Amino acid sequence: MIFVTGGAGFIGSNFVLDWLANGGEPVVNLDKLTYAGNLNNLLSLRQDTRHIFIKGDIGDTTLVTKLLATHGPRAILHFAAESHVDRSIHGPGEFIKTNVNGTFSLLEAARAYYAELSETERAGFRFLHVSTDEVYGSLGPADAPFTEQTAYAPNNPYSASKAASDHLVRAYHHTYGLPTLTTNCSNNYGPYHFPEKLIPLVITNALAGKALPIYGDGKNVRDWLYVGDHCAAIRRVLQDGRPGETYNIGGWNEKTNLDVVHTLCDILDKLAPGKAGSYRDQITFVTDRPGHDRRYAIDAGKIERELGWKPAETFETGIQKTVQWYLDHQDWVCDVQSGEYLKWVEKNYAQREGRGE
Ligand code: NAD
Ligand code: DAU
Repeated sequence: MIFVTGGAGFIGSNFVLDWLANGGEPVVNLDKLTYAGNLNNLLSLRQDTRHIFIKGDIGDTTLVTKLLATHGPRAILHFAAESHVDRSIHGPGEFIKTNVNGTFSLLEAARAYYAELSETERAGFRFLHVSTDEVYGSLGPADAPFTEQTAYAPNNPYSASKAASDHLVRAYHHTYGLPTLTTNCSNNYGPYHFPEKLIPLVITNALAGKALPIYGDGKNVRDWLYVGDHCAAIRRVLQDGRPGETYNIGGWNEKTNLDVVHTLCDILDKLAPGKAGSYRDQITFVTDRPGHDRRYAIDAGKIERELGWKPAETFETGIQKTVQWYLDHQDWVCDVQSGEYLKWVEKNYAQREGRGE
């Protein structure tokens, strides 16, 4: 049995689906079902007794303690978080509550649980914390990619809250001997990605005939990794990662935002041509994100050398699959674009100059 937090979100649900498809043991999935959590992502597991879903908060120590005692997992995989940078700029409070205090509560429950395990169970137990490359801050154009030795320099409330959670995880290993593993991954994309993030937002806006908003000059660089590759990397780290270590995960796919959006428009022009012209015509440059990190790049050499993991997808193959998935799952898109989503779009984009729809 493994214990997953945030398994109804984008990466968590992909992980649970892939884990069970790969013959992994049963999963207890604790998720608060915030706006980003969606049980529709897990519909294919409705009849699968290997998946036990619990709606609840990682900060609810009584609940977590009870779940750990009842199910006796051999690992905790911690995905749950507030994950959107723009939302953290509008309202950092929830990010501190879940990413910092929630992770702290979960670590406390894990520490108490670990203390009661037998010696053999302790030897196999792992706490795997899923984190981000954003904790390392922003790179200049000629800087070497982030390694596990790069100093932390988070620049927005989201990345600061994730950095704080990484530090707590590190401290629980160092101080209490909790067998932790931390992964710092670059930008994921793929199925079930909530359309507040760049790639799914652009696909869904393009198809709806809306503006494709590009912050600033569109030259910010991100490293993109197909979500299935991230899930495979997490499985490798869980299996053979060394307790106390951190592993960077990335796709060796640095792209400017403008390149990403052009690629999406070109694929859509082929797969779902609009009535008039190219989807590129819908691109609109809008006011930049405050404190917008210029460039992220990941050196994923350690996980390749030590654990033999490298991405299976190139950006070209992964993005093609992703666009096709959104075209084939318009019902999923309609469901998530609920009242809360519309309110967010209004809040985030209404005051950005240059808006055009
Ligand atoms: P997401 O926002 O899609 O999903 C987060 C999930 O956590 C949701 O299902 C939500 O309901 C749940 N959740 C939130 N607060 C909770 C709480 N207090 N208790 C229980 N559940 C709660 O996020 P994601 O993109 O899937 O990211 C998952 C993890 O991976 C996060 O920790 C994120 O920091 C990290 N990460 C994301 C990316 C990326 O590109 N998306 C890259 C690197 C790392
Ligand atoms: O690097 C890993 C991180 O990647 C994760 O830790 C975060 O959880 C995840 O959300 C993602 O953060 P980003 O801020 O990089 O992702 P986002 O999709 O929000 O934005 C990607 C880039 O696109 C970024 O430079 C901002 C830009 N952007 C985004 C939106 C939503 C736009 O130009 N227009 C937009 O409308």
